[in-house]
Formats: sequence, structure tokens, C-alpha cells
Amino acid sequence: MEAELSPSVLGITMPENLAVGLMIAEHRARCASRGCDFEYAAFALGQSPFPVPDVVAAALREAASHGEYVPTLGIRPLLEQLPGFWARHFGMQRTADDFVVVPGAKAGIHLLLSMLRGPLLIPTPAWVGYGPLATLVGKAVERLPTDQAVGYKLDPERLESHLRAASPGQRLLILNSPNNPTGAVYTREELAAIAAVCRRNGVLVISDEIYALSTYDPTQFVSMAAVYPEGTFVVSGLSKFAAAGGYRLGLVVLPSECSADHRQIFQKVGAATYSNVTTLVQFAAIPAFADSPVMVEYLADTRSLHALMARELQRRLRAVPGARICTPDGGFYFMLDLNDVAPRAAARGLESSGEVAAALLGHPIHVALLAGEATELPAEDLSFRVAFVDYDGAAAMRRYRAERPAGPVAEAQFVEAAAPRMTEGVERLSRWIEAL
Ligand SMILES: Cc1ncc(COP(=O)(O)O)c(C=O)c1O
Repeated sequence: MEAELSPSVLGITMPENLAVGLMIAEHRARCASRGCDFEYAAFALGQSPFPVPDVVAAALREAASHGEYVPTLGIRPLLEQLPGFWARHFGMQRTADDFVVVPGAKAGIHLLLSMLRGPLLIPTPAWVGYGPLATLVGKAVERLPTDQAVGYKLDPERLESHLRAASPGQRLLILNSPNNPTGAVYTREELAAIAAVCRRNGVLVISDEIYALSTYDPTQFVSMAAVYPEGTFVVSGLSKFAAAGGYRLGLVVLPSECSADHRQIFQKVGAATYSNVTTLVQFAAIPAFADSPVMVEYLADTRSLHALMARELQRRLRAVPGARICTPDGGFYFMLDLNDVAPRAAARGLESSGEVAAALLGHPIHVALLAGEATELPAEDLSFRVAFVDYDGAAAMRRYRAERPAGPVAEAQFVEAAAPRMTEGVERLSRWIEAL
């Protein structure tokens, strides 16, 4: 018997980054059959290349015998680590009861979208995950395009004029800083201007701060909750800063004026769906949030390596005529804009970012980029997300600790040695653009 599916599920598309993974597998099989041994330069997938911190992996092993159910909102020893962590890294004063442990940042956003009324405002370009989550919970989406000229940051005036023209009622705004796909980090002033508009118009913010700890200059990161404490739900977690996406441990930080009722709703919805985040993973997460010299060193080195990789790849791409790039201030991504070569691409029948991305993936270039259209840019905008994490993070970290490179020449040599697939990929990409 054919099962009938609910309409919200039928509307879901496969996130483009995962679709690219499948396309790479197909190309690899095809190329192998014709003896092509090209290595793929995987600039499309974004996950931390580093090993899970030793203290976290060891805590996971030790927690293996914890098979018991635990409270839905999170285990107490983990919740009690979090206020100290938020104070040290973000200068914010929170209590253990302001936090909810959830099965990953994505699940945290899903929970919030299911619990909070109103349409979702998404500034674009945007992370590939927001659209499908909104579809899944049947939420209307209103998109707010941003301009490359201002680093793809949401313009508060555009937000205000959108709200003025919109139907009345509560709305949710998803804000992501540092941003995937652009690498943009909002300043305190920029956040305060957006907060003022939100406050005036009854807009709640879901602030996706999953990349906060990879802001290259950590003093530059400001949480939306610092300027809009009463209306911001922060989403965070282990996935990016502790290279532990597969652990599935995220956090929601509740607004300062969140009532006990809201906490209870979280408890009820969590209890009704997943009971609790995997108990042993919660125990493993405790040392990730603890104030220890090993975590301080791990965070400083991973952040520096992300910044170094971004700088060096950008230096190389800037030398390519027709390539424009936006400098990231945090995270693992930046945008590459090839619109200057659009007429030459069109002459070869490539008229959308998806078509260009497919051509780059094919033989003999084998470079995987995420097409701008997957990040909700118009298809004809030839912009692409470059993820710069395709290297052996453990080896790079050892090398970095042994010989911290200083200056452009040493950095170029370091990246050449530590991330050869990426430098080779940029080389092939550059040749392709020049030969268009
Ligand atoms: C902007 C953004 N938010 C959320 C997530 C999801 O994080 P998690 O793996 O904790 O669900 C990702 C993962 O790629 C992301 O890039």
C-alpha cells in the first residue's frame, strides 16, 4: 500500500550541500571508470576539520555506562557550566535556568519555529537549513535580500520598510552571525539598530550563533542577546567549536524575560519528541564548556587556523581577474562573486550559479562549490559559497603548534603544505575562470 504523505513533508527539498555530496559520489564513480584519478576539492561541505578535543572524547568514553533517562531540559552539571562559559566568552551574565539542551542547533531552531507564532523573516543569502525547517513546520517565509556592498548584512531600514508594508502580528527574524554563507559578523551598533526595529514592531529574534567561537578576532563578536535581551532566543552548540556535529548537542538560550511557562513548553515539547539529549553526550560536553587551559588553547588555535586559511585562499583568489570576494570575519565560509565573467559563462551556456557549479564539479575541474541559488540568491546571480575546511585538521593543528607562520610568505607555504587539496582546487578554479 502506498503511504500518503503530509503536504509539509512533500514541500521539503534536500539541502543543497548534501545534494552536492551525492553529486560528487556520482562524478567520482564516472571518472574512476575512465581512469581519472583527480582529487576533488570539496569547497561545498562545511564542517570543522579538527578532531574533537581530547578532553571531550575522553569524557564521552567515561560516560558510556550512563544509559539512564535524564531531565528533558538538560543535566544539571552541564547546565551549571554554561553561565561561566557565556560570561568568559561573550561577557554575558546568565543563569543555568536560562539554557535548554537540545539535540543540535538545527533541532533548536526547529523547536523554536514550532513553538513561536508568526512568519519567519530570512535575510538572504542564508544558510541552506532555514527554508526546509520553515516548510516542515508550515511557517510562511518572508525573505529580506541583503547587499554585497555592505557585506551582506541586514539593513535595518529595509527591515523596517518590510514590516511597515506587512500584515500586523508577531514575526520571527533569524539572524546568523558569524554568517553562513558570507562570513559576516555584525557589530554591536548594527545589532542595536536591528534590535530597535524589532522592538518597535514586535519581532522576536532567533539568533543563530553557532559560529560565535570562530570569530577571528574574538573581541569582535557580540551576541544579539546583549542588545535585545528581552526578545532574543540564542541558538548555539558543540557542533562547530568542538568539531562535534555528529554528537548532536545544541543549546537554546532563553530571552531574559522568558516566563516559566515558556520553559515548561520547551520541557513538554522536548519530552513529547526526544525525551532528552543523549545522556552520555551531555556528560561529554561538560569539559567543552569548562574553563580549562586545553580548551582555551584549542579554541585559540582552531580560530587562528580558520582565519589563516581564509586569508590565504582569498589572497590567491583576489589575483584572478573577474573574481570578487567578500572578506569573512568569522566561520568557515566566504562568498565568491563571478558576475563579472557572466557574459563569458553565458557564451558557454552557463546562465545560473547552479549550472556553473555543475560545470566546475565535472571532469576535468572537479571543484565543488555551493551555488548561490542554494543560499537563496537569485539563480542568475553567479555567486558561490566557498567553504575552506577541506584539509586534515589534526595534522594542520600539529604543524601550526610547531611553526606558527608569520607573514604572507610563511602563511602561503603553511597552507600549501597543510591544505594541498584546497590550494590545488583554487589553482584549478582560477585557471577555469581565466580560460572562460
Ligand atoms: C548557520 C548554521 N546553523 C545551524 C547549523 C546546524 O548545527 P547543528 O549541527 O548543531 O544542528 C549549521 C550547520 O551547518 C549552520 O551552518
